[in-house]
Amino acid sequence: MIIFKSINKLNKKVDFKASIGFVPTMGSLHKGHISLINSSKKICKKTLVSIFINPTQFNNKRDFYNYPKSLSKDMRILKKLDVDYLFLPKVSEIYKDGNKRKIKISKKDKIMCAKFRPGHFEGVLAVINQFLLNIKAKYIFFGEKDFQQLYLINKFIEKKFTTRIISCKTIRDRSNLPYSSRVARLSYSEIVKAKKVSKIFKKIFISLKRKFKNNKKILFYLNKIRLVSSEIEYFDIRNKNNLTLKCNRSNFKIFIAYKINSIRLIDNI
Ligand code: PAF
Repeated sequence: MIIFKSINKLNKKVDFKASIGFVPTMGSLHKGHISLINSSKKICKKTLVSIFINPTQFNNKRDFYNYPKSLSKDMRILKKLDVDYLFLPKVSEIYKDGNKRKIKISKKDKIMCAKFRPGHFEGVLAVINQFLLNIKAKYIFFGEKDFQQLYLINKFIEKKFTTRIISCKTIRDRSNLPYSSRVARLSYSEIVKAKKVSKIFKKIFISLKRKFKNNKKILFYLNKIRLVSSEIEYFDIRNKNNLTLKCNRSNFKIFIAYKINSIRLIDNI
């Protein structure tokens, strides 16, 4: 595995005319990331993974400083997966001249996480923009776990870049809890609570598939979630193609953001 810290060196060494798969991450790698990397390895000749905790996507400084870091473990995982290239840039390498300008999102997209984490997706788009201006990969990989992120990145990339997005299914444990870096911040008893939420969340989906918008049932399940979660930030039923509230039994997706103590978790089915 070749490690790069500078964009110049990366571009000198990597042949971007070949089919290169790019998996951007913020580290703390888990099974979700591993599935993205394995998809890239299947489709592409070479795989490039980046680990960069992007400061512009944190609307809360404490969240940024507390973001879990496990570089040595991550590097062991990447070597074991036989990843070709690892990009480990500093903030100044990505945001040259200190320019951390965010990319605007439309008013109608300011829903769910965009509403509760103002500026978050603008920062995500800013880093994806910087990456793709400098890294001409053929494919870029994202997980459906962050469905709203995937939706906004899709809209942004297709207007500006030729890089193709490959979206990969959410990887879950047996209790339906999706793998995520934030789970690393939960204690054992908090993980038990998150698993409970995940099981109930799946029940909501199954119940809606049987009988769409059965509000009584939904309220019943949300109350069950409230018994273990300190706060449900939002629960939405939306059209999976455009994220509007206009949806039916065949095109809906459910979305939730909730807190276990102060840790914010999200999911969608
Ligand atoms: O999903 C993430 O880990 C991050 O938002 C991403 C896409 C790597 C951008 O920093």
